[in-house]
Order: sequence, then C-alpha cells, then structure tokens
Amino acid sequence: MNVLVVGGAGYIGSHCVRQLAAAGHRPVVLDNLVYGHRAAVAPAVPFYESDLGDEAAVRRVLTKEQIGLVMHFAAYCYVGESVTDPLKYYLNNVSATLHLLKAMLAVDVKQFVFSSSCATYGVPDRLPMTEDLPQAPINPYGQTKLDVENVLKALARAHGLSFAAFRYFNAAGASEDSLIGEDHHPETHLIPLAIDAALGRRPPLQLFGTDYPTPDGTCLRDYVHVDDLSRAHIAVFDRLAKPGTKLFYNLGTGRPSSNREVIRAVEKLSGKTVPLVEAPRRAGDPPALYADSSLAKRELGWQPKFADIESTVATAWKWHSTHPKGYDDRKG
Ligand code: UFG
Repeated sequence: MNVLVVGGAGYIGSHCVRQLAAAGHRPVVLDNLVYGHRAAVAPAVPFYESDLGDEAAVRRVLTKEQIGLVMHFAAYCYVGESVTDPLKYYLNNVSATLHLLKAMLAVDVKQFVFSSSCATYGVPDRLPMTEDLPQAPINPYGQTKLDVENVLKALARAHGLSFAAFRYFNAAGASEDSLIGEDHHPETHLIPLAIDAALGRRPPLQLFGTDYPTPDGTCLRDYVHVDDLSRAHIAVFDRLAKPGTKLFYNLGTGRPSSNREVIRAVEKLSGKTVPLVEAPRRAGDPPALYADSSLAKRELGWQPKFADIESTVATAWKWHSTHPKGYDDRKG
C-alpha cells in the first residue's frame, strides 16, 4: 500500500513511517517542518515539504504517488498553549485538516487514519476509559481533535470516507535502535524532562501537584510506546476497505503510572537521581487517565509490546542520553 504520512517528520509520524516500511508498505511523507525534523525520515523515503493549505500541492502528491491511504499526524499538541492561543490550534488542527480532506476527496482517496487523543474525553467519569465514554474536552486542543472526529463522521456518511480515529493516551519512548526519538521544542512532557533533569541538562523537574486523590498524590497517566501506537495504525488497514467505515479506538497499555513512578523508573534506568521541586498543580491536568484498549485488542489483534513503564522509559533514556541535542537542527 502507498501511504501518505502527513506529519511524518514528527515524533509519532516518523516512528510510523519506519514501521510501515518494515511491514512492506511504501510510506511517502508530507510535512511542513514547522515542528518536524527532516533527519527523522530516512533519505530513501519520498519527502514533500508542503503546507496542507496548499491543496493543489497535496492533490499532486496524492496522484503522483498513487496514494491509497492517508495517515494524519500533523497537529499542534501543547494543551496549555491551546488555552492561551486557541486560534492557532483551530487553524492548524481543524482548518488544515479540512484542506487535506478536501484534497483527498477531490482525487478520490477515501481511506484515512487520524491521530485523535484521550483529551477528547476531558475528565472521565469512569476508569479505565472505554470508547463509549462521553466526550467533553476541557481544553481547545482536545476540542480540535473532537471536531475533526465529527467532520470525519459526516464525510463517511456523505462521501463514503473510511476512517479510523485512534485516541492516544500518553505517547512515549523511542525506537529500539535509538535512531529516532522525541525532540519537541519547547519540551513539556514528563519523561524527557525527567531524563534531562537527571542528566543535569535542565533545572530540577517541577512535579506538578502532590495532592491528587491518587495512591501517591501525583497524577496517573497511561504511557504507550510510539512503536506500539504505530503498529495499531498498520493493523487497521484491512478494516478500512469497506466505504463509509467509522472506527474509534483507545490506544494505551491500560496500566496507570503515577508521576512519581515515572520518576523512579528514570532513576532506576539512569542510575541517577532526578532533582525535583514539588510545585502546585498544572491547570487542566485531570487526576487520572488510563485506557481500556480491549476494543483494539479484540478487533485489530493489537497488543502493546511495551507493557510496563520501565521498558518504555528504557528506550527514551537510550535516545535522550545518546542525543543530547535531539536531531540538533534547531533554527535560531
Ligand atoms: N508533569 C510534571 N512536571 C513537568 C511536566 C509534566 O509534573 O514538568 C506532569 C503533568 O502535570 C502530568 C504528567 O506529568 O500530571 C504528564 O504530563 P505530560 O505533559 O507528559 O503529558 P499530558 O498527560 O499532559 O499530555 C498528554 C499528551 C497531550 C494530550 C494529553 C491528554 O502529551 O497531547 O496527554 O490529557 F492532550
């Protein structure tokens, strides 16, 4: 299958590109390199640097590369920034996606895999979280992901678009060979920040909130390895052949880890102490988010290979400790 990976130079997209190639598919990358890294994609993979707003360019790529399915990873993903600058998020995460979908329909490409998020649920009223929970996002980031899910449903009805929306929990880790990994700028995520603090590359980690109603008072999250996320994207292909198919899957390990447990895992794997300061809660953080992924397991045969926090953190540790500046391509 020729697969267009939009956002293929980003964190999750670049891992998926490698998994696609390993599974015998032919990935083609389209990325505007605003947050992506050219070096995250092997030179042999066809690469188009383009914005989704340029519909004619997207149509040309779809046609020239004889694309059968589009995976869409390109999105802004900072929850806090989405609260302070919502327009940036609606313009990129929703409007740009509409241009992509319009270009696809114009050239009759009707299979789509979308990166959605557990942020579409807001604060869940039940744990672990199944796909049928009410979706009530508590920030614009989650709302943009839910908006796109709703657009996809309408396009499935109106035009026979087939799609799968994967609601990721906390994407984490790096490729096992450490060739690619996480390199966000700015970085806001717990695991890379804890690793950098252990290595003395950053000030002490701020631990946001120690008074949550959880066993150790810190938030619980479900860290799912990027390569496991990628494998689910490929496992869904067969189910998208029928026009108008609508699929929604939660992707997580189902095992909650508290922030303190994550820090302990970093300390164990690195043999170093993570210097930290206890800080107030971060606005908008739900106390606990973890997945019930039994639907993906049942329907896709998906089974996370990295089932515990230590195995995921081990890959992150290897990547960050051997790549002090990530891809070392920072502009300015
Ligand atoms: N945390 C700290 N200190 C830090 C950074 C994070 O204590 O310096 C804590 C957070 O408060 C939270 C936990 O670590 O309790 C995890 O935070 P992350 O920022 O690593 O991840 P989030 O759970 O906030 O975000 C993830 C994805 C988002 C997605 C969100 C859904 O990165 O894209 O889950 O809730 F929207």
